[in-house]
Amino acid sequence: MGIMKNYFFKIILVALLCQACSPAKKEEAAADAKPDSIWVKPSLYLDTELKGEQRKLVIYGEELIAHTSKYLGPNGSVAHLTNGMNCQNCHLEAGTRPLGNNYSGVFSTYPKFRERSGRIESIYKRVSDCMERSLNGTPIDSNSYEFKAIYAYMQWLGKDVKKDVKPYQSGIKRLKFLERAADPAKGKLVYETQCRSCHGENGAGVKDANGIAWIYPPVWGNDSYNDGAGLFRLSNFAGYVKYNMPFGKSDVNSQALSDEEAWDVAAFVNSQPRPSKDQSADWPNKSKKPVDFPYPPYGDEFSAVQHKYGPFKPIADFYKKK
Ligand code: HEC
Ligand code: HEC
Repeated sequence: MGIMKNYFFKIILVALLCQACSPAKKEEAAADAKPDSIWVKPSLYLDTELKGEQRKLVIYGEELIAHTSKYLGPNGSVAHLTNGMNCQNCHLEAGTRPLGNNYSGVFSTYPKFRERSGRIESIYKRVSDCMERSLNGTPIDSNSYEFKAIYAYMQWLGKDVKKDVKPYQSGIKRLKFLERAADPAKGKLVYETQCRSCHGENGAGVKDANGIAWIYPPVWGNDSYNDGAGLFRLSNFAGYVKYNMPFGKSDVNSQALSDEEAWDVAAFVNSQPRPSKDQSADWPNKSKKPVDFPYPPYGDEFSAVQHKYGPFKPIADFYKKK
Protein backbone atom coordinates (compact mmCIF):
# COMPACT_ATOMS: atom_id res chain seq x y z
CA MET A 1 0.00 0.00 0.00
CA GLY A 2 2.84 2.35 0.95
CA ILE A 3 4.53 1.58 -2.35
CA MET A 4 1.30 2.28 -4.28
CA LYS A 5 0.86 5.61 -2.52
CA ASN A 6 4.39 6.54 -3.36
CA TYR A 7 3.80 5.54 -6.98
CA PHE A 8 0.64 7.67 -7.34
CA PHE A 9 2.36 10.58 -5.74
CA LYS A 10 5.12 10.32 -8.34
CA ILE A 11 2.66 10.26 -11.23
CA ILE A 12 0.93 13.37 -9.92
CA LEU A 13 4.25 15.10 -9.40
CA VAL A 14 5.37 14.33 -12.95
CA ALA A 15 2.04 15.57 -14.33
CA LEU A 16 2.37 18.81 -12.38
CA LEU A 17 5.95 19.34 -13.51
CA CYS A 18 5.02 18.78 -17.14
CA GLN A 19 2.26 21.34 -16.87
CA ALA A 20 4.69 23.83 -15.45
CA CYS A 21 7.27 23.23 -18.13
CA SER A 22 5.07 23.15 -21.20
CA PRO A 23 4.89 26.90 -21.92
CA ALA A 24 8.69 27.09 -21.79
CA LYS A 25 8.85 24.10 -24.14
CA LYS A 26 6.68 25.91 -26.64
CA GLU A 27 8.96 28.94 -26.61
CA GLU A 28 11.96 26.73 -27.03
CA ALA A 29 10.40 25.28 -30.17
CA ALA A 30 9.55 28.74 -31.48
CA ALA A 31 13.07 30.00 -31.00
CA ASP A 32 14.52 26.62 -31.93
CA ALA A 33 17.55 26.88 -29.69
CA LYS A 34 18.39 25.44 -26.32
CA PRO A 35 17.78 27.91 -23.51
CA ASP A 36 20.99 28.51 -21.57
CA SER A 37 19.06 30.50 -19.09
CA ILE A 38 15.68 32.12 -19.25
CA TRP A 39 15.88 35.76 -18.35
CA VAL A 40 13.12 37.51 -16.47
CA LYS A 41 13.12 41.29 -16.43
CA PRO A 42 13.82 42.53 -12.90
CA SER A 43 11.08 44.60 -11.29
CA LEU A 44 11.66 48.08 -9.86
CA TYR A 45 8.83 47.46 -7.39
CA LEU A 46 10.19 44.19 -6.07
CA ASP A 47 13.85 45.15 -6.04
CA THR A 48 14.14 46.64 -2.58
CA GLU A 49 17.93 46.44 -2.71
CA LEU A 50 18.02 49.08 -5.42
CA LYS A 51 18.13 52.30 -3.42
CA GLY A 52 19.07 55.96 -3.42
CA GLU A 53 21.25 57.36 -6.19
CA GLN A 54 21.60 53.99 -7.91
CA ARG A 55 17.82 53.63 -8.14
CA LYS A 56 17.53 57.13 -9.59
CA LEU A 57 20.14 56.28 -12.21
CA VAL A 58 18.39 53.07 -13.27
CA ILE A 59 15.04 54.81 -13.62
CA TYR A 60 16.58 57.62 -15.66
CA GLY A 61 18.46 55.09 -17.79
CA GLU A 62 15.23 53.32 -18.69
CA GLU A 63 13.66 56.69 -19.53
CA LEU A 64 16.59 57.57 -21.83
CA ILE A 65 16.27 54.28 -23.73
CA ALA A 66 12.50 54.70 -24.13
CA HIS A 67 12.44 58.43 -24.91
CA THR A 68 15.90 59.14 -26.28
CA SER A 69 14.88 61.94 -28.63
CA LYS A 70 13.26 63.95 -25.84
CA TYR A 71 16.68 64.25 -24.16
CA LEU A 72 19.30 63.70 -26.87
CA GLY A 73 17.51 64.21 -30.21
CA PRO A 74 17.59 67.23 -32.56
CA ASN A 75 15.40 69.17 -30.08
CA GLY A 76 16.66 67.33 -27.00
CA SER A 77 16.54 68.97 -23.57
CA VAL A 78 20.03 67.74 -22.55
CA ALA A 79 22.12 67.58 -25.75
CA HIS A 80 21.71 67.26 -29.50
CA LEU A 81 23.44 64.03 -30.36
CA THR A 82 21.03 61.78 -32.24
CA ASN A 83 18.68 61.69 -35.21
CA GLY A 84 15.39 61.71 -33.32
CA MET A 85 14.85 57.98 -33.08
CA ASN A 86 14.59 56.29 -29.70
CA CYS A 87 16.76 53.36 -28.65
CA GLN A 88 13.44 51.67 -27.91
CA ASN A 89 12.40 51.84 -31.58
CA CYS A 90 14.78 48.91 -32.09
CA HIS A 91 15.33 47.67 -28.51
CA LEU A 92 11.66 47.11 -27.76
CA GLU A 93 10.08 47.69 -24.34
CA ALA A 94 13.16 49.63 -23.25
CA GLY A 95 15.36 46.71 -24.25
CA THR A 96 13.52 43.99 -22.35
CA ARG A 97 11.34 42.21 -24.90
CA PRO A 98 12.21 38.56 -25.71
CA LEU A 99 13.76 38.49 -29.20
CA GLY A 100 13.02 42.23 -29.39
CA ASN A 101 16.75 43.04 -29.39
CA ASN A 102 16.82 43.12 -25.59
CA TYR A 103 19.76 44.04 -23.37
CA SER A 104 19.70 41.01 -21.06
CA GLY A 105 23.09 39.84 -22.29
CA VAL A 106 24.92 43.17 -22.34
CA PHE A 107 26.28 43.42 -18.82
CA SER A 108 27.29 39.75 -18.74
CA THR A 109 29.18 39.73 -22.06
CA TYR A 110 30.95 43.10 -22.25
CA PRO A 111 33.77 44.03 -22.45
CA LYS A 112 34.33 41.68 -25.36
CA PHE A 113 36.31 41.41 -28.58
CA ARG A 114 34.37 42.47 -31.66
CA GLU A 115 35.50 41.93 -35.23
CA ARG A 116 33.94 45.14 -36.55
CA SER A 117 36.41 47.31 -34.63
CA GLY A 118 39.03 44.59 -34.22
CA ARG A 119 39.37 45.36 -30.53
CA ILE A 120 37.92 44.77 -27.11
CA GLU A 121 34.83 46.90 -26.68
CA SER A 122 33.30 48.22 -23.48
CA ILE A 123 29.61 48.87 -22.95
CA TYR A 124 30.43 52.53 -23.54
CA LYS A 125 31.91 51.78 -26.97
CA ARG A 126 28.94 49.60 -27.91
CA VAL A 127 26.39 52.25 -26.87
CA SER A 128 28.38 54.88 -28.82
CA ASP A 129 28.29 52.59 -31.86
CA CYS A 130 24.50 52.57 -31.88
CA MET A 131 24.47 56.34 -31.38
CA GLU A 132 26.76 56.88 -34.38
CA ARG A 133 25.13 54.30 -36.64
CA SER A 134 21.61 53.32 -35.61
CA LEU A 135 20.85 56.88 -34.48
CA ASN A 136 23.12 58.42 -37.14
CA GLY A 137 24.59 60.81 -34.55
CA THR A 138 27.59 61.41 -32.30
CA PRO A 139 28.72 59.43 -29.25
CA ILE A 140 27.62 60.39 -25.78
CA ASP A 141 30.20 61.75 -23.29
CA SER A 142 31.37 58.80 -21.19
CA ASN A 143 31.41 60.99 -18.06
CA SER A 144 27.91 62.36 -18.56
CA TYR A 145 25.11 61.66 -16.10
CA GLU A 146 23.17 60.29 -19.07
CA PHE A 147 25.74 57.63 -19.92
CA LYS A 148 26.04 56.69 -16.24
CA ALA A 149 22.26 56.19 -16.20
CA ILE A 150 22.25 54.02 -19.35
CA TYR A 151 25.11 51.96 -17.90
CA ALA A 152 23.32 51.57 -14.56
CA TYR A 153 20.16 50.44 -16.33
CA MET A 154 21.99 47.78 -18.38
CA GLN A 155 23.84 46.62 -15.28
CA TRP A 156 20.57 46.28 -13.40
CA LEU A 157 18.88 44.40 -16.27
CA GLY A 158 21.76 41.92 -16.25
CA LYS A 159 22.25 41.70 -12.50
CA ASP A 160 21.11 38.07 -12.26
CA VAL A 161 22.86 36.88 -15.42
CA LYS A 162 26.13 34.98 -14.90
CA LYS A 163 29.30 36.39 -16.44
CA ASP A 164 29.72 35.44 -20.14
CA VAL A 165 26.22 33.99 -20.43
CA LYS A 166 24.04 35.29 -23.24
CA PRO A 167 20.52 34.60 -22.00
CA TYR A 168 17.96 32.75 -24.04
CA GLN A 169 16.10 35.14 -26.39
CA SER A 170 18.49 38.03 -25.87
CA GLY A 171 19.34 40.27 -28.80
CA ILE A 172 18.13 39.34 -32.29
CA LYS A 173 17.48 35.81 -33.50
CA ARG A 174 18.81 35.30 -37.00
CA LEU A 175 16.76 33.28 -39.48
CA LYS A 176 18.01 30.39 -41.58
CA PHE A 177 19.54 31.51 -44.88
CA LEU A 178 17.31 31.21 -47.94
CA GLU A 179 18.55 29.03 -50.79
CA ARG A 180 18.00 31.98 -53.13
CA ALA A 181 18.92 35.65 -53.00
CA ALA A 182 16.53 37.90 -51.07
CA ASP A 183 14.34 39.75 -53.58
CA PRO A 184 13.67 43.51 -53.21
CA ALA A 185 10.79 43.35 -55.73
CA LYS A 186 8.94 40.74 -53.67
CA GLY A 187 9.89 42.69 -50.56
CA LYS A 188 8.23 45.80 -51.95
CA LEU A 189 4.92 43.93 -52.03
CA VAL A 190 5.41 42.80 -48.43
CA TYR A 191 6.19 46.40 -47.46
CA GLU A 192 3.09 47.71 -49.18
CA THR A 193 0.74 45.21 -47.59
CA GLN A 194 2.29 44.78 -44.12
CA CYS A 195 4.38 47.83 -43.25
CA ARG A 196 3.36 50.92 -45.20
CA SER A 197 0.24 51.61 -43.13
CA CYS A 198 2.51 52.60 -40.21
CA HIS A 199 5.98 53.35 -41.60
CA GLY A 200 4.58 55.37 -44.53
CA GLU A 201 4.65 55.53 -48.28
CA ASN A 202 8.29 56.69 -48.37
CA GLY A 203 9.48 54.79 -45.31
CA ALA A 204 9.70 58.17 -43.59
CA GLY A 205 7.62 57.34 -40.51
CA VAL A 206 5.10 59.47 -38.63
CA LYS A 207 5.96 62.01 -35.89
CA ASP A 208 3.88 62.86 -32.82
CA ALA A 209 2.01 66.17 -32.53
CA ASN A 210 5.00 67.94 -30.89
CA GLY A 211 7.30 66.74 -33.62
CA ILE A 212 9.72 65.32 -31.01
CA ALA A 213 9.35 61.57 -31.16
CA TRP A 214 8.22 59.10 -33.77
CA ILE A 215 4.90 57.34 -33.41
CA TYR A 216 6.08 55.15 -36.29
CA PRO A 217 9.82 55.44 -36.80
CA PRO A 218 11.39 55.89 -40.24
CA VAL A 219 12.80 52.81 -41.97
CA TRP A 220 14.67 54.68 -44.68
CA GLY A 221 15.52 58.26 -45.72
CA ASN A 222 17.43 61.06 -43.94
CA ASP A 223 15.98 60.42 -40.48
CA SER A 224 16.67 56.68 -40.44
CA TYR A 225 19.64 54.53 -39.35
CA ASN A 226 22.74 54.84 -41.55
CA ASP A 227 24.44 52.21 -43.69
CA GLY A 228 26.90 51.35 -40.94
CA ALA A 229 24.11 50.24 -38.58
CA GLY A 230 23.37 46.66 -37.60
CA LEU A 231 19.93 46.74 -39.22
CA PHE A 232 21.50 47.56 -42.58
CA ARG A 233 22.57 43.93 -42.72
CA LEU A 234 19.80 41.72 -44.06
CA SER A 235 20.20 38.99 -41.43
CA ASN A 236 19.69 41.42 -38.55
CA PHE A 237 16.77 43.18 -40.21
CA ALA A 238 15.02 39.95 -41.18
CA GLY A 239 15.47 38.46 -37.70
CA TYR A 240 14.27 41.60 -35.96
CA VAL A 241 11.23 42.02 -38.20
CA LYS A 242 10.20 38.37 -38.17
CA TYR A 243 9.68 38.32 -34.39
CA ASN A 244 8.51 41.90 -33.88
CA MET A 245 6.75 43.31 -36.94
CA PRO A 246 4.10 44.21 -37.90
CA PHE A 247 4.12 45.80 -34.45
CA GLY A 248 1.43 44.29 -32.24
CA LYS A 249 0.96 41.30 -34.54
CA SER A 250 4.23 39.40 -34.17
CA ASP A 251 6.23 38.18 -31.20
CA VAL A 252 8.09 35.15 -29.90
CA ASN A 253 5.01 32.95 -30.03
CA SER A 254 3.33 34.02 -33.21
CA GLN A 255 4.75 35.63 -36.33
CA ALA A 256 2.87 37.28 -39.15
CA LEU A 257 5.67 37.01 -41.74
CA SER A 258 7.19 33.89 -43.25
CA ASP A 259 11.01 33.72 -43.31
CA GLU A 260 10.94 34.48 -47.03
CA GLU A 261 8.83 37.58 -46.51
CA ALA A 262 11.15 38.76 -43.73
CA TRP A 263 14.27 38.36 -45.94
CA ASP A 264 12.58 39.97 -48.94
CA VAL A 265 11.29 42.98 -47.04
CA ALA A 266 14.78 43.37 -45.53
CA ALA A 267 16.16 43.45 -49.08
CA PHE A 268 13.61 46.04 -50.17
CA VAL A 269 13.99 48.41 -47.20
CA ASN A 270 17.78 48.19 -47.24
CA SER A 271 17.92 49.01 -50.96
CA GLN A 272 16.28 52.40 -50.30
CA PRO A 273 18.32 55.59 -49.70
CA ARG A 274 19.63 56.38 -46.20
CA PRO A 275 22.51 58.28 -44.59
CA SER A 276 25.99 56.91 -45.20
CA LYS A 277 28.84 56.46 -42.76
CA ASP A 278 32.58 56.23 -43.44
CA GLN A 279 33.35 52.63 -42.50
CA SER A 280 36.85 52.35 -43.94
CA ALA A 281 38.33 51.53 -40.52
CA ASP A 282 35.80 48.76 -39.81
CA TRP A 283 36.51 45.02 -40.08
CA PRO A 284 40.32 45.19 -40.01
CA ASN A 285 40.30 41.44 -40.66
CA LYS A 286 38.43 41.25 -43.99
CA SER A 287 37.77 37.53 -43.75
CA LYS A 288 35.81 38.14 -40.53
CA LYS A 289 33.25 40.38 -42.19
CA PRO A 290 29.76 38.90 -41.84
CA VAL A 291 28.63 37.13 -45.02
CA ASP A 292 25.86 39.71 -45.42
CA PHE A 293 28.06 42.78 -45.10
CA PRO A 294 27.38 44.66 -48.33
CA TYR A 295 30.62 46.62 -48.88
CA PRO A 296 33.97 45.32 -50.20
CA PRO A 297 36.84 44.55 -49.79
CA TYR A 298 36.23 40.93 -48.83
CA GLY A 299 38.40 37.99 -47.99
CA ASP A 300 36.65 36.02 -50.77
CA GLU A 301 35.69 36.23 -54.44
CA PHE A 302 31.91 36.57 -54.09
CA SER A 303 30.36 39.70 -55.58
CA ALA A 304 29.20 42.72 -53.59
CA VAL A 305 25.65 42.02 -54.81
CA GLN A 306 25.77 38.50 -53.40
CA HIS A 307 27.14 39.87 -50.11
CA LYS A 308 24.19 42.22 -49.96
CA TYR A 309 21.26 40.01 -51.03
CA GLY A 310 22.59 36.45 -50.94
CA PRO A 311 22.39 33.57 -51.47
CA PHE A 312 24.55 33.61 -48.32
CA LYS A 313 25.00 29.90 -47.77
CA PRO A 314 27.73 29.47 -50.43
CA ILE A 315 29.69 32.30 -48.77
CA ALA A 316 29.24 30.81 -45.32
CA ASP A 317 30.30 27.38 -46.65
CA PHE A 318 33.41 28.90 -48.23
CA TYR A 319 34.54 30.23 -44.84
CA LYS A 320 33.63 27.01 -43.07
CA LYS A 321 35.93 25.06 -45.40
CA LYS A 322 38.81 27.52 -44.98
C1 HEC B 1 17.86 51.43 -35.75
C2 HEC B 1 17.86 50.41 -34.75
C3 HEC B 1 18.62 50.65 -33.45
C4 HEC B 1 18.56 51.74 -32.60
C5 HEC B 1 17.71 52.98 -32.76
C6 HEC B 1 19.47 51.45 -31.52
N1 HEC B 1 20.04 50.23 -31.69
FE1 HEC B 1 21.32 49.31 -30.41
N2 HEC B 1 21.44 47.71 -31.67
C7 HEC B 1 20.78 47.58 -32.87
C8 HEC B 1 21.16 46.34 -33.50
C9 HEC B 1 20.65 45.82 -34.82
C10 HEC B 1 22.08 45.72 -32.63
C11 HEC B 1 22.82 44.40 -32.84
C12 HEC B 1 22.03 43.26 -32.28
C13 HEC B 1 22.72 41.92 -32.49
O1 HEC B 1 23.80 41.87 -33.06
O2 HEC B 1 22.14 40.91 -32.03
C14 HEC B 1 22.23 46.62 -31.49
C15 HEC B 1 23.04 46.34 -30.39
C16 HEC B 1 23.15 47.14 -29.26
C17 HEC B 1 23.90 46.78 -28.08
C18 HEC B 1 24.66 45.47 -27.88
C19 HEC B 1 23.70 44.37 -27.51
C20 HEC B 1 24.34 43.04 -27.24
O3 HEC B 1 23.66 42.19 -26.62
O4 HEC B 1 25.48 42.80 -27.65
C21 HEC B 1 23.79 47.82 -27.20
C22 HEC B 1 24.39 47.92 -25.80
C23 HEC B 1 22.95 48.81 -27.83
N3 HEC B 1 22.58 48.37 -29.08
C24 HEC B 1 22.59 50.01 -27.26
C25 HEC B 1 21.78 50.97 -27.88
C26 HEC B 1 21.44 52.25 -27.29
C27 HEC B 1 21.87 52.70 -25.91
C28 HEC B 1 20.67 52.90 -28.19
C29 HEC B 1 20.11 54.30 -28.10
C30 HEC B 1 21.10 55.35 -27.78
C31 HEC B 1 20.51 52.02 -29.34
N4 HEC B 1 21.20 50.87 -29.13
C32 HEC B 1 19.71 52.31 -30.45
C33 HEC B 1 19.88 48.47 -33.39
C34 HEC B 1 19.56 49.71 -32.85
C1 HEC C 1 0.98 48.76 -36.60
C2 HEC C 1 2.05 49.63 -37.00
C3 HEC C 1 3.29 48.97 -37.59
C4 HEC C 1 3.37 48.10 -38.65
C5 HEC C 1 2.24 47.58 -39.53
C6 HEC C 1 4.78 47.81 -38.81
N1 HEC C 1 5.53 48.47 -37.87
FE1 HEC C 1 7.54 48.50 -37.72
N2 HEC C 1 7.43 49.62 -36.04
C7 HEC C 1 6.25 50.11 -35.50
C8 HEC C 1 6.55 50.81 -34.27
C9 HEC C 1 5.53 51.50 -33.37
C10 HEC C 1 7.94 50.71 -34.07
C11 HEC C 1 8.72 51.25 -32.89
C12 HEC C 1 8.38 50.50 -31.63
C13 HEC C 1 8.71 51.24 -30.36
O1 HEC C 1 9.31 52.31 -30.40
O2 HEC C 1 8.33 50.72 -29.29
C14 HEC C 1 8.46 49.97 -35.22
C15 HEC C 1 9.80 49.70 -35.43
C16 HEC C 1 10.32 49.14 -36.59
C17 HEC C 1 11.72 49.03 -36.92
C18 HEC C 1 12.90 49.51 -36.08
C19 HEC C 1 12.97 51.01 -36.08
C20 HEC C 1 13.24 51.62 -37.42
O3 HEC C 1 12.45 52.51 -37.79
O4 HEC C 1 14.20 51.26 -38.10
C21 HEC C 1 11.80 48.41 -38.13
C22 HEC C 1 13.06 48.09 -38.90
C23 HEC C 1 10.46 48.10 -38.54
N3 HEC C 1 9.58 48.57 -37.59
C24 HEC C 1 10.14 47.44 -39.72
C25 HEC C 1 8.83 47.07 -40.07
C26 HEC C 1 8.51 46.24 -41.20
C27 HEC C 1 9.52 45.71 -42.20
C28 HEC C 1 7.17 46.08 -41.20
C29 HEC C 1 6.33 45.26 -42.15
C30 HEC C 1 6.65 43.84 -42.21
C31 HEC C 1 6.63 46.83 -40.08
N4 HEC C 1 7.69 47.39 -39.40
C32 HEC C 1 5.30 46.96 -39.77
C33 HEC C 1 4.98 49.99 -36.03
C34 HEC C 1 4.65 49.19 -37.10
